[in-house]
Amino acid sequence: MGGHGQKVRQRKPDIKKERSDDQEAGKGKSKNPKKDASSGIRNLILLVLAAFAVIIVFVLVKGYTWYLETLVTKPLNAPKMIIDNSTSPAVSPSRFWGSYRPHAYFGMKTRTPRSPVFGLMWLTQFTFEMPPPIRHWCSQDDKLAKYGWLKHDGVNFGVQEIEENTYKIRTEFVKRPGGDHGGDWTARISLEPKVKGMKQVVSLMFYVALDGQGVVTPSLDGSRMKKVTGYSEELGHFDLHFLNPEKASGARYHHLVSYANRLDRLKNLMQNSLRVDAWDKARTMSYFHLGGRLIPRDSPGANFMVHQITAEIPFQMEVAFESVSFIDRPNRLRSNAFSEELQKHAENFDKKFTEVFDLENKGYSKDEIDFAKSAMSNMIGGIGYFYGSSLVKSKYNKEPVDYWEAGLYTGVPSRSFFPRGFLWDEGFHNLLISQWDPEISEDIMAHWLDLINTEGWIPREQILGVEARARVPDEFVVQRNENANPPTLFLPLQRLIKRMTGSQDPTFHRFLEAVFPRLKAWYSWYNTTQVGSIPSSYRWRGRDAKTNLELNPKTLTSGLDDYPRASHPTDDERHVDLRCWMALASGIMTDIAKELGQDHSEYEATHNLLTDIELLNKLHWNSEKSWYCDYGLHSSKVLLQRPRPNPNNPHAQLDKVRVVKEKESLRYVESFGYVSLFPFLLKILPPDSQNLFRILVDLKNSQLLWTNYGLRSLALKAPLYNKRNTEHDPPYWRGAIWINMNYLTLSSLYHYANTPGKYQKIAQETYSELRNNLVKNILKEYERTGYIYEQYDDKTGQGKGSHPFTGWSALVVLIMAEKY
Ligand SMILES: *[C@@H]1O[C@H](CO)[C@@H](O)[C@H](O)[C@H]1NC(C)=O
Ligand SMILES: *[C@@H]1O[C@H](CO)[C@@H](O)[C@H](O)[C@H]1NC(C)=O
Repeated sequence: MGGHGQKVRQRKPDIKKERSDDQEAGKGKSKNPKKDASSGIRNLILLVLAAFAVIIVFVLVKGYTWYLETLVTKPLNAPKMIIDNSTSPAVSPSRFWGSYRPHAYFGMKTRTPRSPVFGLMWLTQFTFEMPPPIRHWCSQDDKLAKYGWLKHDGVNFGVQEIEENTYKIRTEFVKRPGGDHGGDWTARISLEPKVKGMKQVVSLMFYVALDGQGVVTPSLDGSRMKKVTGYSEELGHFDLHFLNPEKASGARYHHLVSYANRLDRLKNLMQNSLRVDAWDKARTMSYFHLGGRLIPRDSPGANFMVHQITAEIPFQMEVAFESVSFIDRPNRLRSNAFSEELQKHAENFDKKFTEVFDLENKGYSKDEIDFAKSAMSNMIGGIGYFYGSSLVKSKYNKEPVDYWEAGLYTGVPSRSFFPRGFLWDEGFHNLLISQWDPEISEDIMAHWLDLINTEGWIPREQILGVEARARVPDEFVVQRNENANPPTLFLPLQRLIKRMTGSQDPTFHRFLEAVFPRLKAWYSWYNTTQVGSIPSSYRWRGRDAKTNLELNPKTLTSGLDDYPRASHPTDDERHVDLRCWMALASGIMTDIAKELGQDHSEYEATHNLLTDIELLNKLHWNSEKSWYCDYGLHSSKVLLQRPRPNPNNPHAQLDKVRVVKEKESLRYVESFGYVSLFPFLLKILPPDSQNLFRILVDLKNSQLLWTNYGLRSLALKAPLYNKRNTEHDPPYWRGAIWINMNYLTLSSLYHYANTPGKYQKIAQETYSELRNNLVKNILKEYERTGYIYEQYDDKTGQGKGSHPFTGWSALVVLIMAEKY
């Protein structure tokens, strides 16, 4: 993951100065009495006029200030791609319902702003922990041995397995469209001991909670909740049935009927409502159960209903959501009917998976293919729908302001750690998603591109809604409009265009036509706000030039966070990766303009300029080292040292500060790493280029990036290899192996291996070896630990960082399938 949680320097608002100057000018006019005494009336008129002038100037300045302050939150003036009803059941019935709450172990909601939410919590009884841990939101602290989707097609169904210490939970759901409100769905939760015969008592809690609209009413049978009937704007009338198909022996039923004023408080409310009772007659064991009707006196009424079943495993629960407007359903989606539908969808999934990825023909075993199915399903099953507004800030705003409210349909990097939208991750996600289901991918891209403001900016981290915001520390919430993020959405767009060019498919053309005005604005924002000080150079913004606490001030905007750049950020810096992203974007803009028969000359000219190798070399080729580099005010000899204690407070622990051992100067930043590869990664180098050969040779050098597990991010011999950026910041992009960059490397190697040129053979050999190393290691780590990871250690190959990380690390599926 990159670019998460950044702090950027705050610029002083320039507007203050402008305003006071103008006001001075206004005042000047009013202090200029005419000497002519004979015309009192004229003076009066002048005075009135002057007063008017002051007022007008004041209003203009106010108006201009207001204009500048609101610019950042003004949507782009172009037709929206997602119109108000395009996620409605009428327009898009198949994607209306979904497991769009990836941050929860299992949850369902619709693609509407204030969707009621449905979800699962559970707790293990008799563990003697106080309070008993309730599982709800995915968390690494829960230390589950494993969890994730085994199969999920993004549309009809999903099958997930979750491993607790002593038992397994299977969560399955099937949807069935019908009626006017998105149809039915049923979820089945099954519990089974890991070791046959092992006894364990577990509670499952399944809830519905309203988000500010609608009504729900429980039907009770003693302490057991049998059903909830409800109504909401988008769902109309509905019933939620709690069933247990195979009677669990000795099961106890309880419920909670309560009021939640916010969706991020559900678990808390549940925890606070727990009661303790004896489990057995002899009262040797006691268990926790929900407290029944507990509605705070001053609340507007119940909006949170929970059904709880407590029993000895194995047992099952079914929850069936039925839309009342669905009158002609063939049968009820429960027990056998449910199993049959599920079976049918699972078979279609397997068939389609073979059609799309064809891993059988690549020689993979059944276990390896099951792994790939699960990796892909977690990418697809991790897609969420979020609604709300970002907090943003421009240099004209004193305080952060709310972006407009919008829905975002998007994949997420990690269900446990980053369960929300990240701009540059999403481009990588959609390389995989678009292979599986191009419609889903276009829908996701459309949602993202609708978030462009009038300046052409898209906030790069999307923290929408209370559940998302509850997981991000306040200091990281605000997004600033100077800051970019790699425009990776161009990558899936490029695939789409490559596949569709020349086709007469009208939906493809409609999509391109809708997307083009937005891409133009987006492109132009990069091409104006992210330029460097000399022509055709580019520079990431958002680095802190003033800090002395960081070994190398971070460049979160580049996505590569602490990857070493010029040690002293200045406006003279130029970044080779951003320049290459711009070359890619210019080329794709040219292609789209051509495909649409629009003027492409300026994009093509910029593309030609940015792919001019002589010019590229002049700006970024370090001929001393023979590799591509950033350029800037730089010193390679920096380290963190503890300052001398302050004599007035000798025991205070002072943070280490940076000491520069060799004076910085304007020069190439000579670290070798992912950034040095960009002219190759984005296929800018011609196939006969000498520099390409040089990169191909360097790739295999184990003193640089090569390991048996994939390419590490920074050369073993780079000055900042594996160095902490501050005492509190462990290395992130300073050695570890990242899968998105390895995917780009393989994609390039594959390209050069298959393009006539001098270096085809070496590209082919390196390709095969790197691909083997990566796949083998990711598989091995998955088997060993149950997870796919954010990064892999370059010394041991072990997975590390957040997990499960089935965002771009799931690109391993495309690597296995050799789809680039
Ligand atoms: C979607 O909304 C537009 C107006 O906002 C309306 O013209 C159109 O008929 C609606 N389409 C559907 C299928 O509801
Ligand atoms: C990008 O910016 C440069 C100036 O920095 C300009 O010359 C070029 O025309 C721009 N390209 C496009 C496609 O707007």
